Amino acid sequence: MKNLYPLFFILLLFACTNSDTANTTETSTYIAEEAREAHRPYFHFTPPSKWMNDPNGMVYYDGEYHLFYQYYPDSTVWGPMHWGHAVSTDLVNWEHLPIALYPDSLGLIFSGSAVMDWKNTSGLGKDGEPPMIAIFTHHNMEGEKAKRLDFQVQSIAYSHDKGRTWTKYKGNPVISNPGIKDFRDPKVIWHEATQKWVMVFAAYDKAKFYTSPNLIDWTFASDFGIEGDTRLWECPDLFPIKTEDTKETKWILITSIQKEAPNGGTGTSYFIGDFDGERFIGNPEEQYWLDYGTDNYAFVTWSDIPKSDGRRLGIGWMSNWQYAQQVPTENWRSAMTLPRSLHLTNTPNGYRLFSRPIENINDLILVPATSRILSIMPYCMEVQLSFQKSDLDLVLYNFRGNEFRIGYDATKNEFFTDRTKAGKSDFSDKFANKIHTAPRLMESDTIKMQIYFDVASCELFADNGATCMTTIYFPEEDFSAIRLEKEPSQIYQFLTTNLK
Ligand code: FRU
Repeated sequence: MKNLYPLFFILLLFACTNSDTANTTETSTYIAEEAREAHRPYFHFTPPSKWMNDPNGMVYYDGEYHLFYQYYPDSTVWGPMHWGHAVSTDLVNWEHLPIALYPDSLGLIFSGSAVMDWKNTSGLGKDGEPPMIAIFTHHNMEGEKAKRLDFQVQSIAYSHDKGRTWTKYKGNPVISNPGIKDFRDPKVIWHEATQKWVMVFAAYDKAKFYTSPNLIDWTFASDFGIEGDTRLWECPDLFPIKTEDTKETKWILITSIQKEAPNGGTGTSYFIGDFDGERFIGNPEEQYWLDYGTDNYAFVTWSDIPKSDGRRLGIGWMSNWQYAQQVPTENWRSAMTLPRSLHLTNTPNGYRLFSRPIENINDLILVPATSRILSIMPYCMEVQLSFQKSDLDLVLYNFRGNEFRIGYDATKNEFFTDRTKAGKSDFSDKFANKIHTAPRLMESDTIKMQIYFDVASCELFADNGATCMTTIYFPEEDFSAIRLEKEPSQIYQFLTTNLK
């Protein structure tokens, strides 16, 4: 065992200087030290208070990235769903806005997407401006209680003021339910080749595709699923992406799965294939995981990112339904993952979807008003490691005896995270019951690990995003020190950046 930096023993909370408080407006994710709640992250999106789950309706318009989210403003556990709302010009610093969509006579507002109707195909535009259209599931509680099967339907709403206020379409629902109990989470895209809108949503154990000329009249097109699957699918996404090397276009179908993710509980998966405007053509047996950690669910991507930008950007809910409602935060529950860009990259086993934190994210986090502290802050930092393929075990710890481990096991050729001793865990027997692992996809002799720690979470992007693991934890006090328990003989890079 080797202590890397004796300076870590400084209690970092005391090292924090006052000038940090200069940037405490609502428009920043930065939070003044004295106002900080236990486990509240510094640079991840969290709701101001109360319950949040899936990211919804992500769309870019007129310089703003919109993030709507499943929100219950009256409690810290799941309840009647609204769409919360925030906007950002850089995907890191968010401005909280009033609730966008409230439950109504048709039901609660479940997950969905948003698009800009540039050509006003819906006729819902005003004054020559394109409407922003939200497409979501209405979930009718009475129908559910009465044990009907048709209580989830797809509806739309439109906004003429950049998503600030919304009107529900008077002809809702736009897709009614033929009698399928789980029938939800519409994601809509504009399909250039057929000049039609395409909706994909989850229907129990498969994805359903519909098409429309105008976002209002929808026609069933096809289903995609795995023969004999008994797992619940949720929050699908569909998009084209160019391979990083040959620039050939492939289509990705993302779907979140409610059980049996690689390390237990809920997780986000994807298929690679083609899409002809009506059908997703891919091998249902080749289902891959976007993230091997326990805490990246309902990951979906932004609509309407300008062509000149070209990135495929997305974000996930950083929790797991196995314990999301029990985690020990007091005034709010759940954070989103870091915003990520997706890349279809060649591996020894063919193409896989790599996830990377968005470019320059560290600069975006480090707002100018922040004063840098010279000692390393393990609870709020980025680590870049590159080393010769051999065991590595990096430990974050504090003086309450909490330890979080992350590393690489050369014998098994796996990355791992270990939160079994990382702090509070008695809220759920599913939380700290085992070490989590993820296969290494690349074969090079040099292993790269880029890791983001933010108070209560760790995101690993290994080998340029080939293997990702997102993990949350709840230490009894912030991690204040790190050590390498197992150290490779050759470390080429070990760079830490404080993100506060
Ligand atoms: C996924 C999910 C969605 C649903 C929403 C309800 O986490 O179960 O399928 O629309 O959450 O809040």
